[in-house]
Amino acid sequence: MSMWLVLTVQVIWPGLCLAMQHYPTTWGHYDICKSQVYTDEGLTWDYMACQPEATDMTKYLKVTLDPPNITCGDPPETYCALENPYMCNNECDAATEELAHPPELMFDFEGRNPTTFWQSSSWRKYPKPLVVNITLSWNKTIELTDDIVITFESGRPEQMVLEKSLDYGRTWQPYQFYATDCLDAFTMEPKTVQELSQFTLLDIICTEEYSRGYVWKYDKTVRFEIKDRFALFAGPRLHNMASLYGQLDTTKNLRDFFTITDLRIRLLRPATGATMVDESNLSRYFYAISDIKVHGRCKCNLHANSCVFEKEKLSCECEHNTTGPDCGRCKRNYQGRAWSAGSYLPIPKGTANICVPNNISPVNCECLGHSNRCSYIDLLNTVICVSCKHNTRGQHCHLCKLGYYRNASAELEDENVCIDCNCNPFGSESDHCNGTGFCKCKAGATGVKCHECLPGYLWDNGCKSRVCDNELLRCQNGGVCVNNVRCQCPPAFSGLLCEKPRCESEAGGCDPDSGQTPLSHSAFLLLLTSACVLLLTRL
Ligand SMILES: *[C@@H]1O[C@H](CO)[C@@H](O)[C@H](O)[C@H]1NC(C)=O
Ligand SMILES: *[C@@H]1O[C@H](CO)[C@@H](O)[C@H](O)[C@H]1NC(C)=O
Ligand SMILES: *[C@@H]1O[C@H](CO)[C@@H](O)[C@H](O)[C@H]1NC(C)=O
Ligand SMILES: *[C@@H]1O[C@H](CO)[C@@H](O)[C@H](O)[C@H]1NC(C)=O
Ligand SMILES: *[C@@H]1O[C@H](CO)[C@@H](O)[C@H](O)[C@H]1NC(C)=O
Ligand SMILES: *[C@@H]1O[C@H](CO)[C@@H](O)[C@H](O)[C@H]1NC(C)=O
Ligand SMILES: *[C@@H]1O[C@H](CO)[C@@H](O)[C@H](O)[C@H]1NC(C)=O
Repeated sequence: MSMWLVLTVQVIWPGLCLAMQHYPTTWGHYDICKSQVYTDEGLTWDYMACQPEATDMTKYLKVTLDPPNITCGDPPETYCALENPYMCNNECDAATEELAHPPELMFDFEGRNPTTFWQSSSWRKYPKPLVVNITLSWNKTIELTDDIVITFESGRPEQMVLEKSLDYGRTWQPYQFYATDCLDAFTMEPKTVQELSQFTLLDIICTEEYSRGYVWKYDKTVRFEIKDRFALFAGPRLHNMASLYGQLDTTKNLRDFFTITDLRIRLLRPATGATMVDESNLSRYFYAISDIKVHGRCKCNLHANSCVFEKEKLSCECEHNTTGPDCGRCKRNYQGRAWSAGSYLPIPKGTANICVPNNISPVNCECLGHSNRCSYIDLLNTVICVSCKHNTRGQHCHLCKLGYYRNASAELEDENVCIDCNCNPFGSESDHCNGTGFCKCKAGATGVKCHECLPGYLWDNGCKSRVCDNELLRCQNGGVCVNNVRCQCPPAFSGLLCEKPRCESEAGGCDPDSGQTPLSHSAFLLLLTSACVLLLTRL
């Protein structure tokens, strides 16, 4: 396209291009990513939004036909001449170069005479539809910049759909329908691109513009009108691209509309030229395409001004410390803030939105004073604080580490905002506590930190279910622990742990229960248990 200004760029040493002149004479060139400028601090880089030049994209595509054997010539067949459908002795033979019509001929250089073209086998199975898919794949997102033009050497099809994919052929959406009778073929009202407005630009229409007429020499092309759609924002002759770029910047749907990874031409019914198909001579009906034009540029998210074709694959040469086939993420160690596409605005140089190194993170890195380092997480598209100090954690160091709980009366910025749970390691299930500092206790343990035992349990590196224990010498005054459940006391003592001297006189202030009539065995146990509970709750 001649509207783009060609810049002089001098290569000083490999990889470093110094733009000698970078002031676009008109708006919106976006063809340099950076330039060196003198400032008070000396020579520094000035970064700009940039994009590769638009070019003929058919050089980089892969073509697939469905059905795969639909190309004519295998076995050889005769067909009627294109100019004269009553001359039916032309031959298509895939095995003879001069008589073959392989798909590559849709993308070769035109200007030869006679033209070269791909041709399908003819409609021998009429009335079964003659249906062909021609799929063009780039394995790269590209942005269309000019009309898609398909030149037919047969008559133009009576029914056809142009489809696009944005996800490498996984899903397809119609781009435009073409028919001699839109209502009949697709139950759609016929429309032309001229009837679209800024508000209906994204509508998918059916057009009869490119199907009518059975004229061999003229009207051979079928178009998908990119420029007419651009003109709805940029004005006639696209004199105000700034307005279009402004719209593209702010409207994702509009950007996506002109973005593709694949195109599919679905040929649904060949030209018949007459109301009736001549069933006696079906060699008259087939598809033949001499040329397909697709003009566009690699989508590099305004982070590259060139796109290379290497190992059968297109990829952007990313600048601004971005990477990926579409410059769609920040390079390793340059994830100091979230990636974003470059912007056409402010026109004409745009905003580069460069990726910044991890450790200098001027924005977004908000860690409440508990860290000054952030990292960009690609998968989540967020910036998170790293190495939170003061026992904090979380995206903004706004939570307490496990094993700590929030001091409700301290500010989030306070160095002491997180308090150690201090759970007793023997009495607690873990070192975690809830929001008010309560630890989760093992069976038998209790208390905020699980450092105490419930009745019937004794502390022994945690709470163990027993009354006494010989090793711990719980039974006093020479008592002996029997089966961990009771102390057998020497005659002069009584009590659960033999802690009470027996009464020597009626006046003694000792245990009234002791020295009484012997109790039955079960009554004794009951007494023992209640005494035990009483004793332990007082501990
Ligand atoms: C293509 O191949 C299929 C299956 O192999 C066959 O049924 C069909 O007739 C072939 N079509 C042409 C046009 O040769
Ligand atoms: C097709 O038409 C041509 C020219 O009219 C004729 O020579 C040829 O025999 C026809 N073929 C058939 C199968 O009718
Ligand atoms: C062509 O593509 C369409 C979807 O895009 C699919 O439904 C169809 O099966 C394909 N093949 C043929 C021969 O039409
Ligand atoms: C498409 O490109 C990716 C790399 O980006 C590669 O792994 C894959 O094999 C390519 N697919 C085709 C069909 O070429
Ligand atoms: C990448 O970042 C480094 C360090 O800030 C900088 O020197 C370099 O110019 C950047 N590269 C690009 C292409 O922006
Ligand atoms: C909680 O924070 C307040 C205010 O900073 C402080 O006075 C108090 O001692 C803290 N409490 C604990 C248990 O650390
Ligand atoms: C913590 O646990 C204690 C005891 O179970 C309970 O009273 C308190 O409400 C809990 N606090 C929170 C914030 O859940």
